[in-house]
Amino acid sequence: MSAHFDPIRFLLNGQDVTVNVHPTERLSTVLRDTLGRTGTKVGCDAGDCGACTVVIDGHQACACLTPVAQVANLPVTTIEGLSSSDMVSRLQQCFLQHGAAQCGICTPGMLMSAANLLDGNANPSRSEVEEALGGVLCRCTGYTKIIDAVLEVSSFSTEPEDPPAGQAVGSSINRLDGFEKVMGQDLFGADQIPENAVSLRIIRSPYHHATFKIGDKDGWISDNPGILAVFTARDIPGKNCFGVIPPYSDQPVLAEKTCLFLGEAIAIVAGESDAVADLDLSEFPVTWQEQEAMLEPAGARALDASLLHGNRKENILVRGFVERGDAKTGLAKADHVVEASFTTPFIEHAYIEPEAGYAIRKGNRIEIFGCTQAPHMDRETVAEIMGLAEDKIRIMPSSCGGGFGSKIDVSFQPLVALVAWHLDRPAFIAYSRGESMRTTTKRHPSEITIKIGCDNDGKITGIEFDGVFNTGAYASWGPTVANRVPIHASGPYFVPNYRATATAVHTHCVPSGAFRGFGVPQAAIALEQVFDQLADKADIDRLKIRLINALDNNMPTVTGQIFTQGVGIRQCLEALKPIWQKACKKAAEHNANADNPNLR
Ligand code: FES
Repeated sequence: MSAHFDPIRFLLNGQDVTVNVHPTERLSTVLRDTLGRTGTKVGCDAGDCGACTVVIDGHQACACLTPVAQVANLPVTTIEGLSSSDMVSRLQQCFLQHGAAQCGICTPGMLMSAANLLDGNANPSRSEVEEALGGVLCRCTGYTKIIDAVLEVSSFSTEPEDPPAGQAVGSSINRLDGFEKVMGQDLFGADQIPENAVSLRIIRSPYHHATFKIGDKDGWISDNPGILAVFTARDIPGKNCFGVIPPYSDQPVLAEKTCLFLGEAIAIVAGESDAVADLDLSEFPVTWQEQEAMLEPAGARALDASLLHGNRKENILVRGFVERGDAKTGLAKADHVVEASFTTPFIEHAYIEPEAGYAIRKGNRIEIFGCTQAPHMDRETVAEIMGLAEDKIRIMPSSCGGGFGSKIDVSFQPLVALVAWHLDRPAFIAYSRGESMRTTTKRHPSEITIKIGCDNDGKITGIEFDGVFNTGAYASWGPTVANRVPIHASGPYFVPNYRATATAVHTHCVPSGAFRGFGVPQAAIALEQVFDQLADKADIDRLKIRLINALDNNMPTVTGQIFTQGVGIRQCLEALKPIWQKACKKAAEHNANADNPNLR
């Protein structure tokens, strides 16, 4: 029997609404789940991302931090209620034209903040816009486009026309799906929950490395009304294994006896949504036996270290290697040599939209709706896991509220498929922010050593590069990172003598995967810093040494690849010259002042 609550009345987008929910229920949950207004997005449920920004009685607020009782008798405006006023439609047009709505998950929050500002201040300054929008995070645009869009609203006159046929290349055009984004109508993974859907919670390892035993799950189910089933590895009809590069596939959907990273899934709890939401998972019948964990590559490579995967000696997933000329000889004949080591940490993608979606069983087929970057790969993976032919799986991608590589790997897809298949009811899950951050792939941490030498004219004579990448417990995109880094670690420069090695090492950490550049940004951070050090040592301007070594068309890269056109690094560096010279002048003045005792 559902609990009885006093009705709470408020004015939503100009209309009287009354809800019978717990007074401390989040306003965001009431708007989305009770009232079906999914234009308001949820990114963190903690007031950090601002995706759920609404306007309450004239003031912007995070709906996730607002207990619904606090809006009793007050006007609340959401993206669905932004008026069709001239100002709002100009604001939406400006967002479209400036490319201010990219993935679009932050767009409703941004528009609410911007409209709230423009309501009281039609001609804001840049800093006023920055201040007003400061509570809403965007992971796609870098903010400039958004701020420019808001600043242009007061002077915006007409919608520019699309360029004529044949002249579109190089022109700025609106996104084809931009209109839905600026209207708050775009559907993301958590925006569509089928009627009668069961909800899921995942039991996950609290240890980096542990064995486990699941106890009396049937007794636990009967002790928890509304919980319908618990699924474990035994319930997987096909192969309990997935991976983005098939020869390296090694990750179970649900661990069978041992968990190799903190947050690894061992069981799925499925039930009615109210029951699942209130569930105390600490009572779940599982006993854990914590094991020694190796979190750093050095420990995992030690000769006496236990192996995460029996067939991978020294816990090495894969090694990459590129050689051109003779790096040792090149360095030996250099007039100046620098050697330095760098480390970079795990980096979370932090897309605003956590993983979310649902599955429906239709006879002997499964349909999955949700956020993904790789629907075809999802289909192949889910087919293998479910033991079904690929044409029995249909993936329907929602809009993807940021992915940056991590949503190429599957996450929620096999979980909802398994439940929908066995219960023959739609199955829905939306990861919490914490679950998303703990369990999905990250940027590979790296330990990089570079030795670089040049002659007195600044010409590179040789580079030695070694990178060790913490690839975590399972392969994911580790092979791509270890193989791609040596190809690109020379940067956009001509390097006659080169030797680069990269090693992806398993540890008991969350799997590292794809993240914009597959390890190359880590290598670039290191390389560009040794370039600075080398320039200083050779007493050559830092920009000049890069221009001296910049690749041009028809010059070979370290792998011998020759681009006959389109190598643009020289032009990029030349474009930086005025800014660089200005910065150098300023630094020289600063140093001169610091040296002058009268000006200290
Ligand atoms: Fe802002 Fe993607 S457009 S988070």
